[in-house]
Amino acid sequence: VGPSTAQTGTLPAQSTVAVASKEVTILYGSQTGNSQGLAKKTAKELESHGFNITVLSMNDFKPNQLKKIDNLLIVVSTHGEGDPPDSALTFYEYLHSKRAPKLHNLQFSVLALGDSSYEFFCKTGKDFDQRLEELGGTRLYQRTDCDVDFDEPAAKWTEGVLSSLKNASGQESVSEAAATLQTVGTVYSRTNPFQAEVLENINLNGRGSSKETRHLELSLEGSGLSFEPGDSLGVYPENDPALVELILHELKWDPETIVTVKQGEARTLKDALLLFYEITVLTKPLLEKVEPLLANSELQELLRSGKVKEYIEGRDLLDFIRDFGIWGESAQEFVSVLRKIPARLYSIASSLSANPDEVHLTIGAVRYEAYDRERHGVCSIQAAERLKPGEFLPVFIQHNENFKLPNSLETPIIMVGPGTGIAPFRSFLQEREEIGAEGKSWLFFGDQHFVTDFLYQLEWQKWLKSGVLTKMDIAFSRDGDNKVYVQHRMLEHSKELFEWLEEGAYIYVCGDEKNMAHDVHNTLIDIIQKEGGLSRQLAEEYVASLQQQKRYQRDVY
Ligand code: 2AM
Repeated sequence: VGPSTAQTGTLPAQSTVAVASKEVTILYGSQTGNSQGLAKKTAKELESHGFNITVLSMNDFKPNQLKKIDNLLIVVSTHGEGDPPDSALTFYEYLHSKRAPKLHNLQFSVLALGDSSYEFFCKTGKDFDQRLEELGGTRLYQRTDCDVDFDEPAAKWTEGVLSSLKNASGQESVSEAAATLQTVGTVYSRTNPFQAEVLENINLNGRGSSKETRHLELSLEGSGLSFEPGDSLGVYPENDPALVELILHELKWDPETIVTVKQGEARTLKDALLLFYEITVLTKPLLEKVEPLLANSELQELLRSGKVKEYIEGRDLLDFIRDFGIWGESAQEFVSVLRKIPARLYSIASSLSANPDEVHLTIGAVRYEAYDRERHGVCSIQAAERLKPGEFLPVFIQHNENFKLPNSLETPIIMVGPGTGIAPFRSFLQEREEIGAEGKSWLFFGDQHFVTDFLYQLEWQKWLKSGVLTKMDIAFSRDGDNKVYVQHRMLEHSKELFEWLEEGAYIYVCGDEKNMAHDVHNTLIDIIQKEGGLSRQLAEEYVASLQQQKRYQRDVY
């Protein structure tokens, strides 16, 4: 709105005063759905206070709109070695490029999600925060960095943003609206998980395999929960009772001592360690919190030496206690510095239309040795060794809009899922069979050995026969003299794969992030470069554009 001209005097006094905008744009960059969930929650909260909210995935945001925005909230997570989520990549690069506009009229705030056990904790959020400032924006509220247990800090951030927005718009506390936001009925969620009964729990690998992959079927009956193919299931695991015993043995407090785990919730020390706190991962913030309570010169030395990352890698709470001793005047003080045990997310391996009231998971058992002790993946080993049919597991649905079947039933799909990465594709094909999708489909699967590790083999064969699955290529890495991986199979079929892409196929990759997804990504660029007769740069742009159109989606971990 430009300054008022001519008709002075006839206008109400107010209109000459700049009234702060009630328009707020929330952009999220989500990989697993947490940022998306928080963005939507914040949107609801602000809306209930009379703000007009536009909430969008960074993927769907047109950067040329940036200059028109008055209030911008960013909710973004960080992955791997400090990387932005796929859906944030284009916007992230644009903002950090020379093309980014000056944003002197912008007010902004960033909510950063991350995991403090990684070195580049919340890096993407920090980058956005810094860059928006460089471009001339003003912070509406300080950036908040959240660890895996993000509910509380995120709620505080929303509150802080809200109060700044209200101050800016001259609106005093208008809190009645908030009261109407209470949800009606029981809704199961991350903060209120559903107790799902275990119906089935089997090992998919054959005798002699070096792997153990559990197929879990859980009941959602009575939960009212629903999901789509591509969504994940959040599971709250229990720690290994044997590890808890070993830790308790090192502590001087009675395992039955009562501690408060969160506002007013009392548990015995033993149960708190079993069910509530993370004991298998060390983080730098944990060591820093323990340091003043422990006054141990070796720990002080470690923290000063810059070798914390090396030390915490592969070590757990038991190692730490054995190395440096225990801290705290009381059991309460001891547990208070620990992180809450985070939920594990598993890509759902079934379709709700094919298996009503059920959810299936494909979980790889994680066992390895480190520092002379056998280590166990918390959730996977609970599933492999302790979880019996008839028992219950606290779960919630984690929607993932970044891993979705195409809307059209005719669109061809290419699926790359070695190992447990196969899970969502079982869901995809169950769904495509159920809804009678006619598009072609092509599955790449790989694992160590054909005989023992061909997960769900009979199901793929059935679908190949019926035509639900058009093509399947398999790569068993340890059957021959040379390693054969899924990307080698892709490359062998590069011409046809490129044709499918040119026909509009969607390509999905699920599984290991660090090695597989990275190599598959590069192979995809190779294929496009070769078959499209493009330069490396144009091939990379082709892939970026696939990503932008949501025709290249990844669910990697
Ligand atoms: P490997 O264990 O023999 O190295 C599922 O775990 C399958 O993925 C296994 O066959 C495994 O092979 C394979 N794999 C390991 N690293 C990979 C990579 N960088 N790209 C593709 N597949 C990989």
